[in-house]
Amino acid sequence: MVKRIGILTSGGDCAGLNAVIRAVTLRAIKQYKWKVFGIKDGTLGLMKNPVDVLELKESNFDGNLMRMGGTFLGSNNKGNPFKTINKKGKQLNVSDIIINGIKSLKLDALIGIGGDGSLKLLQTLTKKGNINFVGIPKTIDNDVKDNELSIGYDTAVDVATNALDMLQPTAASHRRAMILEVMGRDAGHIALNAGIAGGADVILIPEITYSIKSIAKHIDEIRKNGRNHALIVVAEAVKKENGKKAVVKFVDGQVRLGGIGAYLSEKISKLTKAEIRVTVLGHLQRGAQPTHRDRLIASAFGVHAVDLIAENKFNRVVVWKNRGVEDLNLDEIAGKSKTINKNDPLIEVARGLGIYIGDIS
Ligand code: F6P
Repeated sequence: MVKRIGILTSGGDCAGLNAVIRAVTLRAIKQYKWKVFGIKDGTLGLMKNPVDVLELKESNFDGNLMRMGGTFLGSNNKGNPFKTINKKGKQLNVSDIIINGIKSLKLDALIGIGGDGSLKLLQTLTKKGNINFVGIPKTIDNDVKDNELSIGYDTAVDVATNALDMLQPTAASHRRAMILEVMGRDAGHIALNAGIAGGADVILIPEITYSIKSIAKHIDEIRKNGRNHALIVVAEAVKKENGKKAVVKFVDGQVRLGGIGAYLSEKISKLTKAEIRVTVLGHLQRGAQPTHRDRLIASAFGVHAVDLIAENKFNRVVVWKNRGVEDLNLDEIAGKSKTINKNDPLIEVARGLGIYIGDIS
């Protein structure tokens, strides 16, 4: 029987999404001779009438798409369909519109590619609509529970590591301390991994508290010992000393994390003579060309997700574990995040290298 499957990317984009869409399409068409429909702009495409969708063919992937960052289907990371705010400021539940959109495509199954928040939303929507669903984890934050690697994370760490490689020479030339603010909404995975790989002197992550005094002391010690510069990596979710997160509010009312680097610079400058500059890496971490690892994980996830549908296994999520792809019950993962445990071996590695990583005993 020819099955019809849908695929959408939801939440913030990242590198490797085009590679996973390609893997799903090729596996479904080559192995099973199914039809694949790419839904545009995440759940937004499902709210259009008719639904904004395109049938995906092998020819879509003849060119360099798998090598490119972003998602050619488009994505959406604004709002919750169960509590959407309309232009008049009224809260609406648009879940039935989305469910009817999926139903109008007469799909046998839907594959949703998203982070922890998107996977939870898609799970709730598809359960409500009785729609067969398989999830694929992607997020530069790498905070999906029970999953070692999400699509996009490896590239983001690489971009942050490259940024440190580029900051070090200019830091040394001007005898400065450079702060690099990296993404990671609730977890410090990018900061910790890039910080170690990029030779940082200070790594601040939301999971471990710090003191401005200790950072300043650490920088002064480095200077006293003869090195004229220092590198500091901070995850955007690190809180200020008053316990509040640094945030930016955009004109459309959306609030995002941002500004902890500038905050630290101001505070540390008061306690040390080191001159400080701040770089906010931002969306460069999402738009880069995917690393080989992200393409590989995306390819393995895509093939496995299609095979799950062939086996009639639904409400599952594919995960990366023990250097391979597995699948787990989505109920055990959706909406639960993976932060850095204080016993994470990388914390000890950082400490072993003399990096200040916060106040842990
Ligand atoms: O969750 C992915 C992420 O890139 C976070 O690291 C970051 O806080 C957020 O999305 C940024 O969202 P936006 O693209 O809306 O600015």
